[in-house]
Amino acid sequence: MKNIVLFGAPGAGKGTQAELLKDKYKLIHISTGEVFRHNIKELTELGKLAKTYIDKTQLVPDEVTIKMLIAEVEKYPEANGFIFDGFPRTKSQAESLDKFLKERDHEINAMIVLEVPENILIKRILSRGLTSGRTNDQSEEKIKIRLQNYYDNTDILKDFYQKQNKYHGINGVGTVEEIKERIQQIVEKF
Ligand code: AP5
Ligand code: MG
Repeated sequence: MKNIVLFGAPGAGKGTQAELLKDKYKLIHISTGEVFRHNIKELTELGKLAKTYIDKTQLVPDEVTIKMLIAEVEKYPEANGFIFDGFPRTKSQAESLDKFLKERDHEINAMIVLEVPENILIKRILSRGLTSGRTNDQSEEKIKIRLQNYYDNTDILKDFYQKQNKYHGINGVGTVEEIKERIQQIVEKF
């Protein structure tokens, strides 16, 4: 089983690359952001709750997010493995994911970090905002708050996986195809 944490700041290309990887390695792609957006669209209780945080550019509380992630994973008992995109985002989420996988004799095999400078992240998100319908993509101010949130709460998880020898940082600037190749070189090793 291959379980990958695809990591990086907002706009780093996690969703784009996860879609390519999942086909190549027959993995299930779980984007917590996408699950929240789906629930917001369907007006579920989870969606209504998540919206209050996402609209304020805040993280959804750990308890809610962890419960949702576990429910998503449990939908696929026969999976070859998972690509976690946008999760974990806090130490508590990372610890819960490790515990959950360990209880099932699985683990995270690699954390792959897409490293992209801030000015490029902002450009990419603003350009996505022209068509994504994601209001948080349309204002540079909101994007900067999301990035700050990433540097304050999430970036520290690199240490968490580094201590387990699972950290792999790659240059996330280049064509989608070039970045895909860089990721594959890592995935092929385990
Ligand atoms: P989420 O949906 O995860 O948003 P994000 O982390 O802000 O990341 P993005 O989806 O914006 O970027 P991405 O890395 O997927 O990049 P993409 O491939 O789209 O989360 C949304 C919100 O939900 C959070 O802010 C939070 O409130 C909440 N949430 C989610 N998970 C949570 C959690 N675990 N805990 C608590 N709260 C949570 O690429 C970006 C753009 O660039 C695209 O337009 C793409 O086409 C383009 N692009 C991609 N690659 C390239 C390239 N190589 N060259 C040029 N352009 C490129
Ligand atoms: Mg995404």
